[in-house]
Amino acid sequence: MALLIAATARGQQFAAHAREVAPDLDVRVAPDLGNPAEIDTALVWLPPRGLLASLPNLKLIVSVGAGVDAILADPTLPNVPLTRFVDPDLTGRMAEYITLQVLTHHRRMTEYRMLQTERTWKYIPEAAAHEVRVGIMGLGVLGSASAKALRALGYQVRAWSRSPKQQEGVVSFAGDDQLDAFLAETDILAVILPLTDDTRGLLNRALFRKLSLTGRTPLLPGPVLINAGRGGLQLDSDILAALDAGELYAASLDVFQTEPLPAGSPFWSHPRVVVTPHNAAESAPAAIARYAIRQMRRLNEGQALENVVDRGRGY
Ligand code: NAP
Ligand code: GLV
Repeated sequence: MALLIAATARGQQFAAHAREVAPDLDVRVAPDLGNPAEIDTALVWLPPRGLLASLPNLKLIVSVGAGVDAILADPTLPNVPLTRFVDPDLTGRMAEYITLQVLTHHRRMTEYRMLQTERTWKYIPEAAAHEVRVGIMGLGVLGSASAKALRALGYQVRAWSRSPKQQEGVVSFAGDDQLDAFLAETDILAVILPLTDDTRGLLNRALFRKLSLTGRTPLLPGPVLINAGRGGLQLDSDILAALDAGELYAASLDVFQTEPLPAGSPFWSHPRVVVTPHNAAESAPAAIARYAIRQMRRLNEGQALENVVDRGRGY
């Protein structure tokens, strides 16, 4: 019984923490598999295609991330349970990121940063939080925690998900039929959706044009996009065109169609775009290792696994 860790740059860190939590466990880090037949659990982030299929006795795949699109994209993926990472460490970091980016644009920080470089002392009128409508796409574990944090600051919060939700202080919209109504009442769009066949390319110019059509506060110059879900949800060129056309006022992007973001991308130097390197919620290695060991123990003790991915839905 061995745990294989295949997680690019942080593999050795995960392994060190796993050995601390379970000193007797045989922990291996790819590409040093040893005898593949001894591996029953794999903890993975962007595993090379075919790697998991090469483990004949694999019983469980634990995703380092909450999003599993890259794992599901492997056509050779073995048909064993796949669990995704759900943990207060990750959830707290995402709620911080979404709150930070909402505040950044609501409080016009990209403009103040520019004024600072010019040494210009200028007051920009700002809306009150209760006048700003934040629309969250994806009211799952991360969207729900972000909604709670934003409500605590007084924002109006709407959310769009596949199925209707009941969360205190959050107006719920669900399904394709209610998407336009949700967008029409959204000033700041915060996206925390998984990447699936249904959501790929959703963040395009046609969608941006539907934002904030009714009752927008005049103190926000235009709609704002925050994407902390996956780069495949968005069309980078449509975001740039919408910014140029004034259909979007600003954006915070943690994820991109190509990562790392190429040096030549116009996003890097756009005055009202905040770029972060897919680290909205980069969890602590200790939390990830603990989680993987817990799932492994549950498997071996015959207990139900946590946060098992529904392969049919894709998340
Ligand atoms: P989750 O709990 O599974 O929630 C996903 C939400 O998206 C659910 O509310 C779901 O609706 C909704 N959804 C899925 N497909 C939809 C569709 N076609 N139309 C409308 N709503 C849809 O996932 P999570 O843990 O919150 O994570 C969400 C995503 O965040 C991950 O998949 C990952 O891509 C991303 N993420 C990014 C970072 C980062 O650092 N940038 C870190 C962690 C995660 P239902 O509730 O109705 O099913
Ligand atoms: C990070 O992107 C994750 O899916 O956890």
